[in-house]
Amino acid sequence: MQSSSERIARIASHLHPPSSQMEETSLLGRSGCRAKGGTPGFKVAILGAAGGIGQPLAMLMKMNPLVSVLHLYDVVNTPGVTADLSHMNTGAVVRGFLGQAQLDNALTGMDLVIIPAGVPRKPGMTRDDLFNINAGIVRTLCEGVTRCCPNAIVNLISNPVNSTVPIAAEVFKKAGTYNPRRLLGVTTLDVARANTFVAEVLGLDPRNVNIPVVGGHAGVTILPLLSQATPPSSFTPEEVAYLTERIQNGGTEVVEAKAGTGSATLSMAYAAAQFADACLRGLRGDVGIVECSYVASQVTELPFFASRVRLGRGGVEELLPLGPLNEFERAGLEKAKKELTESIHKGVSFIKS
Ligand SMILES: NC(=O)c1ccc[n+]([C@@H]2O[C@H](COP(=O)([O-])OP(=O)(O)OC[C@H]3O[C@@H](n4cnc5c(N)ncnc54)[C@H](O)[C@@H]3O)[C@@H](O)[C@H]2O)c1
Repeated sequence: MQSSSERIARIASHLHPPSSQMEETSLLGRSGCRAKGGTPGFKVAILGAAGGIGQPLAMLMKMNPLVSVLHLYDVVNTPGVTADLSHMNTGAVVRGFLGQAQLDNALTGMDLVIIPAGVPRKPGMTRDDLFNINAGIVRTLCEGVTRCCPNAIVNLISNPVNSTVPIAAEVFKKAGTYNPRRLLGVTTLDVARANTFVAEVLGLDPRNVNIPVVGGHAGVTILPLLSQATPPSSFTPEEVAYLTERIQNGGTEVVEAKAGTGSATLSMAYAAAQFADACLRGLRGDVGIVECSYVASQVTELPFFASRVRLGRGGVEELLPLGPLNEFERAGLEKAKKELTESIHKGVSFIKS
């Protein structure tokens, strides 16, 4: 039988992080966690969990009944975030991991790895300006995935997604662990924005609207297919122009409103949690789960492309065809493909050169 003092010490161990945040021998780890009461479910890691997206995303995943274990990894602040979330009386057991020396422990045995680590855009920056910093971060984290959970589903959020997904693919190829069905770039926020803005124009409840958004996740590569709206709807040319422009620049709208303090975090966390939940329901074997995602693709001649995909036990089970496009969308597709080609090339050469 454990003495009560031992029990209290164990329960409170997450409240005593190391004195230096960057110290890489943190007390946080498997032995110091509260591992009681875990429900059956999936093991999920969030890398970049202390950030603007990471924190609300961690909270939403702690609330997800499909999650039994939630690992929070970052290079700063995970002790506080972990202690805070660990007080929520939901089923998932939450454990914190701080600094690169704990990356492998954070990743071992995970079913799903969600990556929002990196720097966000500031006003005037494009997503490609972030490339050099975030490319290196994504490479390091994906190398961890190849060592510790090569069969996990990876949801990549770090921008520029159009390039970071090809980077991750190259890292996995190098390690011999690449499974294109398990690497998914998160573009759900583009769909959330499209549904919201279209619902505003049509005067509908956004929960009842669904707009496929294909292509990629930056500027003109974001291609909403308004002609395939659910419910079927017609738009004037002015509405099409307004909606397409607003959906493509939704990220910039938030960056400018936040005036130097970051990019979309709360809506992004919401969208990432929705997408992660869809992936977990797929892993569980639920049928008929279709989401838009930026993945290895044969839908166009490009090696990566965002389109509607059917999710299942293996990750991406099927790439759904683009469907009929109108003239405006066909022109948009050509512009998107041109920019995507360059972003994909940039990502691949970052690892190959
Ligand atoms: N896919 C999308 O739709 C979408 C939308 C918005 C933002 N983003 C991107 O998500 C990323 C994160 O945005 P944010 O607003 O949360 O930024 P943030 O700066 O608030 O948080 C990023 C976190 O990553 C951590 N980090 C940095 N280097 C790391 C490393 N090597 N290992 C682990 N963690 C590390 C930081 O410590 C920080 O806590 C950015 O690249 C941003 O552009 C993507």
